Amino acid sequence: MDRIRVAVNGYGVIGKRVADAVRLQDDMTLAGVADIVDDYRLQVAARAGLAVHAATPQAEAPMRAAGIAVAGGLAELLAQSDVVVDCTPKKVAAINKGVYEAAGLKAIFHGGESHALTGHSFVAQANYASALGRSSTRVVSCNTTSIVRTLGALRTAGLLKRARGTLIRRASDPWEAHAEGIVNTVVPEKVIPSHQGPDARTVLPDLDVVTIAVKAAHNSSHLHTWWVELTRPATRDEVLAAFQAAPRIAFVRSSDGIVALNSTVELARRHVGGGAVGGRAGRRRRPGVLHLPGLQPGNRDPGNHRRDPGSDRHRDGPREVHREDRCLAGSAARFPALTQQGLEGSQWPLT
Ligand SMILES: NC(=O)c1ccc[n+]([C@@H]2O[C@H](COP(=O)([O-])OP(=O)(O)OC[C@H]3O[C@@H](n4cnc5c(N)ncnc54)[C@H](O)[C@@H]3O)[C@@H](O)[C@H]2O)c1
Repeated sequence: MDRIRVAVNGYGVIGKRVADAVRLQDDMTLAGVADIVDDYRLQVAARAGLAVHAATPQAEAPMRAAGIAVAGGLAELLAQSDVVVDCTPKKVAAINKGVYEAAGLKAIFHGGESHALTGHSFVAQANYASALGRSSTRVVSCNTTSIVRTLGALRTAGLLKRARGTLIRRASDPWEAHAEGIVNTVVPEKVIPSHQGPDARTVLPDLDVVTIAVKAAHNSSHLHTWWVELTRPATRDEVLAAFQAAPRIAFVRSSDGIVALNSTVELARRHVGGGAVGGRAGRRRRPGVLHLPGLQPGNRDPGNHRRDPGSDRHRDGPREVHREDRCLAGSAARFPALTQQGLEGSQWPLT
C-alpha cells in the first residue's frame, strides 16, 4: 500500500506533534518539515533525521549556519508530498493557501485561521465524512475540539439540550513561558460569548452552547467547566455510557490521584492525550442538569490530521479514527484504563 506523503509547514508546538503523529501512522510517511527559524527546535529535528526544509529563501543560510542540513526549499517539499499540514502562526497560513493551491496539493490548516479560509472545520469523530474529497479543511483548536467531543457525545446520545461553559485557559505554551504569560492574576476575555462556542458550531451547527473564557496564570493545560441541561432526566450510568461510546474521551478519577491539571498533564505525558472527563462527571445537581468538569490537556490532537488525498482508502471515518488511535497508542499500553479499548477491559471500573 502506498503511504500518504505528508509535509508539515511550521515546526512549532503543533507542527512537532503533527510530525510525531504522522511518523506513528502505518499508512503515512513524513515527507519533511519546513520552518523559517534555526533554533534548537529545528536543530533537534534535523539531528533526529527529519528532512528539514527552509520555508523561505531567506531562512536557508541561517539554518545552514546553525548546522542544519537543509533538505531544500518549501517548493521541493511540496513536490514530494500528497498533503500539507500548515502549522504556521495565525494569518501566515492564509497566505500559504495560494502556494498550496498552485502546487496542486491538499492542505490542512489550524484553529488560528478562520472557518472562511477553507469553508470546512474538522473534528474527526464529528464530521469526517464531510471532509472527504475536499481540497482543504481547518482542524479546530484544542478547546473547540474538546467542546465538540464532549458535548457531541451527549448530543449523539440524545441527551444534550444546551450547555454553558467557562473555559479557564492556560496563559502560554510552556516553551514560550519566558516571553509570554501572566503572574498572579486571571484575565477575563472581554467578549462574551468567547469564540470557542461559535467555533464549535462550525463543526456541529445545531449545538446550543455559550462559552466565556478567562486566561489564568498557569501553562499546563486548559480546564473547562460546564453547566449542561439535558433533554430529559438521565442516570449517571447513562451519561457515562454516552461518553464511553465516543472515541477520544478519557476518564480519570480523583481517587487515583488525578486531582488537578498538573496530575492530568503528568498522566498525559505517559500517554497519548485527549479530552479527559472528571470522575464525578455524572453527578446530577437537579433532574436533567449535569455539572461536568472537563480537563483538556492542551492541543494533543495530532491524529486528527488524516485526510483522504483522493483515493477510496479512507472513507470509513470511525474505522480511521480507531486506526489512528491504535497507531498512537504505543505509550498508552502502559496505561490501558485511559484508552477506549482499555475502558472496556478496565481495571478501573467506572463506579
Ligand atoms: N499551541 C496550541 O496549543 C494551539 C492550540 C490550538 C491551535 N493552535 C493553532 O495551531 C497553529 C500553530 O500554532 P503553534 O502554537 O504551533 O505556533 P508556534 O508559534 O509554536 O509554531 C509556529 C511555527 O511556524 C513557524 N513559522 C512562522 N512563519 C513561518 C512561515 N512563513 N513558514 C513556515 N513556518 C513559519 C515558526 O517559526 C514556528 O516554528 C495556529 O493556527 C494556532 O492558532 C495552536
